Amino acid sequence: METMIMPQQSAVDTTDFLPLNGTDYVEFYVGNAKQAAHFYKTAFGFQSLAYAGPETGVKDKVSYVIRQNKLTFVLTTPLRMHNEIADHIYKHGDGVKFLSLKVEDATDAWEQTTKRGGKSFLEPTTLKDNDGEVVMSGIHTYGETVHLFIERKNYNGVFMPGFVEWKSAYNPASTGLQYVDHCVGNVGWNQMNPWVKFYEEVMGFRNILSFDDKDISTEYSALMSKVMSNGNGFVKFPINEPAEGKKKSQVEEYLDFYNGEGVQHVAIATKNIIETVMDLKSRGIEFLNIPGSYYDTVLDRVGTIDEDLKPLRELGILIDRDEEGYLLQIFTKPLEDRPTLFFEIIQRKGAKSFGKGNFKALFESLEREQDLRGNL
Ligand code: FE2
Repeated sequence: METMIMPQQSAVDTTDFLPLNGTDYVEFYVGNAKQAAHFYKTAFGFQSLAYAGPETGVKDKVSYVIRQNKLTFVLTTPLRMHNEIADHIYKHGDGVKFLSLKVEDATDAWEQTTKRGGKSFLEPTTLKDNDGEVVMSGIHTYGETVHLFIERKNYNGVFMPGFVEWKSAYNPASTGLQYVDHCVGNVGWNQMNPWVKFYEEVMGFRNILSFDDKDISTEYSALMSKVMSNGNGFVKFPINEPAEGKKKSQVEEYLDFYNGEGVQHVAIATKNIIETVMDLKSRGIEFLNIPGSYYDTVLDRVGTIDEDLKPLRELGILIDRDEEGYLLQIFTKPLEDRPTLFFEIIQRKGAKSFGKGNFKALFESLEREQDLRGNL
């Protein structure tokens, strides 16, 4: 057993040079933002929030902003070829471009991180309209992914300057998704530790959990993972790298199809995973299949839980326990045709960990899918 759990940091850390108030939004570069927005509204229960495009003076791209509780997605598509967004989609398929973080002071966030070696993506920039101002800045992280720092304390508009409110007559009900719990990055061979160092040194994060290939391996394939957390624990970024196994690691499959490093999954919290997953399934979302045998022994491992096992078994929801409580989690199949990005739905009942007890069942399920694609 090679998992290491690092000691907890005190809740108030006066030395945190990059205080973060959580995820502000996740922006995806997609081939067709109009259809993607419809998909995320219909299938996941987001509501229309804001829009930017030719009608609002943006000539080269269109962005739709959708929201559900504290979860905000931006879906952006290019209108022409030969530009950074079109190239990104050609190379990676649809994927996460910006993991944007809420800060009190975007200028200070940029100064603190760039002076520690962060590569600037955007110098502090103030955007203004009649509703106030938003300051944003940004640094590069793994692959072509970017962290934007968003300061919106002096803004009262619907999203940010440049966007207009998007009112729609089509408003599917929420599925109970609440906020981003964590976002996982897949990086290349021997790149996990350099990126752990980046999050430690440039962003002041701490490594709170480590899993090596003994923890995360099946008969065929393996990976390694380290979980990075910011000072107050609102932002958590696990970093995976492939490990040698008999066959191809799921992380390698991702790297092949994404053509590089990028966001593997976004984990989204719910307060009632059974209701949320029933709702998502009824809207056509497909999840990884978990063998019924998993449920024959799971309670021996995790002990008593509040939920009946029957609906968890029927829906394929996984259970794990740590010292502080338990969690329920489930993973969607890839959200697009390339086997790259997927979502995790998670309900935490005290547990602060990431479902280590489920890794084997989960990865065997992933491998069955990988095998069907001919990529194992
Ligand atoms: Fe996860």
